[in-house]
Amino acid sequence: MTDKTKAAANAMWGGRFASGPDAIMQAINASIGFDRRLYAQDIAGSRAHAAMLAAQGIIKPSDAEAIREGLLTVLSEIEGGQFTFRTELEDIHMNVEARLKELIGEPAGRLHTARSRNDQVATDFRLWVRDQADAAVLGLKALQRALLAQAEAGADWVMPGFTHLQTAQPVTWGHHMMAYVEMFGRDAGRFADARARMNESPLGAAALAGTGFPIDRAATAKALGFDRPMANSLDAVSDRDFALEFLSASAITATHLSRLAEELVIWSSAQFRFVTLSDRFTTGSSIMPQKKNPDAAELIRAKIGRILGATVALFTVMKGLPLAYSKDMQEDKEQVFDAADTLMLALAAMEGMVRDLSANRANLEKAASSGFSTATDLADWLVREAGLPFRDAHHVTGALVALAEKKGCDLPDLSLTEMQSAHPAINQEVYSVLGVHNSVASRQSFGGTAPDQVRAQAARWAARLA
Ligand code: ARG
Repeated sequence: MTDKTKAAANAMWGGRFASGPDAIMQAINASIGFDRRLYAQDIAGSRAHAAMLAAQGIIKPSDAEAIREGLLTVLSEIEGGQFTFRTELEDIHMNVEARLKELIGEPAGRLHTARSRNDQVATDFRLWVRDQADAAVLGLKALQRALLAQAEAGADWVMPGFTHLQTAQPVTWGHHMMAYVEMFGRDAGRFADARARMNESPLGAAALAGTGFPIDRAATAKALGFDRPMANSLDAVSDRDFALEFLSASAITATHLSRLAEELVIWSSAQFRFVTLSDRFTTGSSIMPQKKNPDAAELIRAKIGRILGATVALFTVMKGLPLAYSKDMQEDKEQVFDAADTLMLALAAMEGMVRDLSANRANLEKAASSGFSTATDLADWLVREAGLPFRDAHHVTGALVALAEKKGCDLPDLSLTEMQSAHPAINQEVYSVLGVHNSVASRQSFGGTAPDQVRAQAARWAARLA
């Protein structure tokens, strides 16, 4: 091959690719389209770093001051919408630094002393996720307060308790609401635990090995509200377990939300009519005038798909990555951003829906009284008053349920003679335990559904949430 043909071949090849691959490379490589959301954290991290560099005598105080002023200008430009984000500058870190250079000139180049984008991005992202963990706790507490208000209002309203979605035993509305207060309380605890664990500073780990400059990592950690610097520089730049914990806690919360959402969908149906959702959280149908659709509940029920998807995605990205930083980890942000946005919206929508919903007390009670919901109370009565072994009592009660079913009535509608046909020891007293109010009032065991128990649990939570 002569030089001439080689050049021609290159010219043909290059003509197509000289700009092509660059544009594609930029498209796959740049993160500014999404990591611009970290601008406030990025600037806070740079301010802490510059102040520390000056305090340690690594840069001149006048340079640190110029950097500080310049960063404040960049911050106000971004917040005022006057900042031009440039894809060719790849990410938020380089966009901020390049603008700083335009504003203050030479001192801007000193900011990156004893630092790398690796510890920079780890710091920014931790700060961002930390804020989201706090926001999740706030959102969960607001939702718990809404559930608590429902529980307090209906501590003694009876409703059917279900297993297998079949009527099981009567419970109280308050008890059912408080079950979710407990779940969301544990969820808040998970975010708080994750926050405490993530609150260590990666800043100063530099690219991966630390730095030869006499930096003060404790000072930057403190300035950014971290409890302490991370103890291993390789770990500091290469783990995203804090994001995985946030996503995992989000997925569990979203699972709880989806269960409550599903109950609201069922309860608001014409077949149940347990609750009426407010107009503010429902939609109409364009063709069926009678419809009031529980769209918010349905969407909350579905959101777990996105949140769990993000969780699986980041686990998959992180799995098998060798230490320390790899560009793969740039894939962490979009997943966490989307999951956090989704979670906060779902929490807010659920809070509004719960706050607005009205439980139909009469329908709840009617449903609680049907379906032989007090059969267990009858069996317990036979054990207590007639001295039957529970297994025998269960059998006798089963026969009475079959009889009532055949007659198309409920247990309290059977006559005493009919009752006694199943067991001669049954007397008039039995009717006292067949009522749903007596049934729930008798469930006084700790954590049981008796209104007294529910009120005690509600009072405990009210104090905690105050
Ligand atoms: N945009 C990058 C990220 O999100 C920042 C860190 C880049 N570091 C590097 N060595 N290229 O992960």
